[in-house]
Amino acid sequence: MTVLRRIPLRSSYPLIRGNHPAVSGVIPAYRQSLSSTAISRGPREPQSVSPLAPIGVEAAVHAKSDPGFLPKSKILDEFKLTDRVGIVSGGARGLGLEMAMALCEAGARAIYCFDIHKQPSEEWEAVRDYVAKLEHGARLEYVSIDVTNQKAVWESADKIGDKEGRMDVCIAAAGVLKPEKDVLEYPAEEFAEATKVMGINVDGVLFTAQAAGRQMRRFGNKGSIILIASMSGSITNHGHAWVAYNTSKSAVLQMARSMACELGEAGIRVNSLSPGHIYTKMTAQYLDAKPHLLDKWSNLNPLGRIGRTDEVRGVIAWLASDASTFCTGSE
Ligand SMILES: NC(=O)c1ccc[n+]([C@@H]2O[C@H](COP(=O)([O-])OP(=O)(O)OC[C@H]3O[C@@H](n4cnc5c(N)ncnc54)[C@H](O)[C@@H]3O)[C@@H](O)[C@H]2O)c1
Repeated sequence: MTVLRRIPLRSSYPLIRGNHPAVSGVIPAYRQSLSSTAISRGPREPQSVSPLAPIGVEAAVHAKSDPGFLPKSKILDEFKLTDRVGIVSGGARGLGLEMAMALCEAGARAIYCFDIHKQPSEEWEAVRDYVAKLEHGARLEYVSIDVTNQKAVWESADKIGDKEGRMDVCIAAAGVLKPEKDVLEYPAEEFAEATKVMGINVDGVLFTAQAAGRQMRRFGNKGSIILIASMSGSITNHGHAWVAYNTSKSAVLQMARSMACELGEAGIRVNSLSPGHIYTKMTAQYLDAKPHLLDKWSNLNPLGRIGRTDEVRGVIAWLASDASTFCTGSE
């Protein structure tokens, strides 16, 4: 028998959700089955309830006391983003586009790609056409915007909220890695100026996350915000003069923790994700110019290779979905 410590409930605790539309019919019976079982899995009145409840071990316990309850695998259902709406900055190409597509494949209704290019690329259009042909017909939308323009980013998200009536996911992936620069010579205007490294990688990430978070709070449907940092926020890439990039990515790590603490009460989760080396336009500027770097970077990785863009799909689907509802402030 598992006996967990009884946690005192605050009457205003915001995560008590017994009336989720997906479970309103299920919860009373489910709670009854909990109280009729000898197994105590936590506080008698749950602080929160999975939208797919009863789920996991509790589903099995429930089935034991209710022979009419048919066992059903729910693990993949937890990853479904059915009807959800999201924003992905840097979504014109590279990791951003790959992640936007993953959200669409997971069932999203519409994903808005924010990127600085005036027009989307052919590759982006191919993805748009592809996801439109999926069973549920996902929409990939393009918004030409500079993420360092807070007003424009907020207004764009407002318009999306007006149109879609909800906001569920945000991936702040727009970022830049400038040519190497001697740390002792780094000019102030390049380090801090809004169109340069810190402006895009730090301010732009914050503005994007704010824009989506404001819509999540507006519609009260909780949400998941994922800030794309980098391994360079925690380690230093020896042999590369990337002080601005590395510093900016460290800031993103702390931004995620800080936002997570402020937004948790609204049910908005904020996590950071730090990819290792992956071949994109960003890294191509180095790998194509200095082919020996492929071996160097591969050998620094335990798997002996650099990553593929599609290898971020799984973790993004997990972080964006209800499969990770107790994960916030994590890296
Ligand atoms: N590729 C890697 O190895 C790697 C590793 C770790 C982290 N990352 C991070 O992943 C994210 C995506 O990188 P990527 O490799 O796909 O690079 P990428 O250059 O292919 O994509 C970055 C995108 O951001 C957009 N962008 C840049 N400035 C912008 C602005 N001001 N407003 C709006 N959009 C802007 C670019 O147009 C581009 O489409 C970045 O934050 C990067 O730092 C990449």
